[in-house]
Parts: sequence; C-alpha cells; structure tokens
Amino acid sequence: MTALLIDGALIARKLLEELRPRVAALTAGGTKPGLAAILVGDNAASEVYVRNKIRACSDLGLKSDVHRLAANCSEDELIALIEKLNRTPDIHGILLQLPLPTHLDAERTTRHINAAKDVDGFSWENLGALVAGHPQLAPCTALGVMAMIDHEGLKVEGADAVVVGRSVAVGKPTALMLIARGATVTVCTSKTRDLARHTRNADIVVVAVGKPGTVNGGMLKPGAAVFDVGINRLADGKITGDVDFASASAVASRITPVPGGVGRMTVATLIANTVSAAENFVKAKV
Ligand code: GUN
Repeated sequence: MTALLIDGALIARKLLEELRPRVAALTAGGTKPGLAAILVGDNAASEVYVRNKIRACSDLGLKSDVHRLAANCSEDELIALIEKLNRTPDIHGILLQLPLPTHLDAERTTRHINAAKDVDGFSWENLGALVAGHPQLAPCTALGVMAMIDHEGLKVEGADAVVVGRSVAVGKPTALMLIARGATVTVCTSKTRDLARHTRNADIVVVAVGKPGTVNGGMLKPGAAVFDVGINRLADGKITGDVDFASASAVASRITPVPGGVGRMTVATLIANTVSAAENFVKAKV
C-alpha cells in the first residue's frame, strides 16, 4: 500500500477560509478579534511559529500584537504583562509561546491567563471542560488532528486509536477528543514496554513524543491512518517528524507529512479559538 498524503496546508487553508464570515460578522458589529502573542527570549523556532500565527491573523483581518520580553525577565514581569492583557478589552486571545527560558515556570505563568482568553486551551478550566465532555477553548494541535480526521472522512466511532505521548499540549487532549467521539483509545508513552504491540492494532495512530523514528511501518496495521505531530530538527538541519515516513507510508492508507502536516493545522485552530473567544466576549456583553 502507498499511503495518501494528508495535506495540512490545504486543510488549514480551508479551515481559515471558513472563519472569514465569522470574522466579518464580528468586525461589522464593532469587535475585531484580537490576539496577543508573548515571546520571551530569542528561541529561533518560537520566532518562526509566532511569525506564522501573526501572518495568519493579518491575512484574515484579525488584530495582533507581539509582546517581547528579554530572556532574563522575571516571572513577575511576565505575569504583570499577562494580567495587563487579561484587562485589555480589544485582546480576545493570549498566546504565551513555549518553551520559556528555564528559570520561568510555564505551568505557573500560563495559569495567570484568563480562561476566556486562553486560546491555547492549556488552563485548568479549559482542560477540565474537555475532560467533562464540554470543551470550550481546547488545545490547538489536538483540534488540528481532529479536523484532519474529519476532512479525510475517517470513522472515529468504534475505531481503535493509539496516541503515543501524554503531554498536556497534545497527547492527553487528543486522547480525550478521540474518546469523546467513540474511539477505543490507548495512550502510550516513552515507558510503554512494547509500543508495536499497541500500534499494530490501531486504525488511527497519533504520534507526539518529539523523537524521530518512534513509529515505523513494521509497527503499523496495514491501512492505518497516521498523524505525525513531531517536529524535530536533525543534525543536517532537515526537519523530520516522529514517524519513519518512508516505511510507514508503505503500510498506512493515509499519513501526514512533516513539514506540511499537523503543524499547519495548529496555526489555523489557534485562529479559530481566537475567533471563538471574540464571539464569546460579544455574547457575554449582551
Ligand atoms: N510551542 C510549540 N507549540 C506551541 C503551542 O501550541 N502553543 C504554545 N503556546 N507554544 C508552543
């Protein structure tokens, strides 16, 4: 079998285009959706991610600002900026780009973001809503994987799914979204004794651990759909995912490439969350 490529660029563009009428309606009503991105230090990958997010905002007519803090800024300075943005009425979404310099605690600082503006979906309130089956603002990459599954017309109810990775940002929320849709979900981690024993049974495989070669074709059920969330930079500068693409694409029915796969979706779903946050803001006012 040679897998069909799941085109993240195409699906993300479609998702963004679908947001246009919602942005137009908000703007016509006097609320232009606004996103504030916070960049701490000078992480090169974070610069690229934030640039892509800001570009997507301007393409779609959202307001966006980037707030830069020095790599040696204090936690108090970062929290003061978050709290100022919480109080800024024309900002509906706050994105604290991760990773942070090591002296700053990402979890502690993220928790200062007002849940209504938490467009990353990392706050305990938003994660709790997802666990309870009433998602509000949910983590962007997990939303992106689900949007790709739907775009491809994959049946989730009754499917066997394996999620490799248990991060709060990707693994756990993706598993919860698959459970909510009726999949039988196994969550594997770096401690899983025999990963292939699990992945070989799966119709849907999502890999999000940040380690190249975590899953290869020999570990897949023929016809599986494979979603590779990893973005790893190799010694030669090339970007690769967590899945061995060459062997996996010979066994899978569909697979996401890296780059050009799930990563593209994360930008689109972040913008979707910002538009939802702006709509919620308008509803709360009336
Ligand atoms: N760094 C890498 N991915 C992400 C993400 O989805 N959100 C944030 N805030 N930082 C990231």
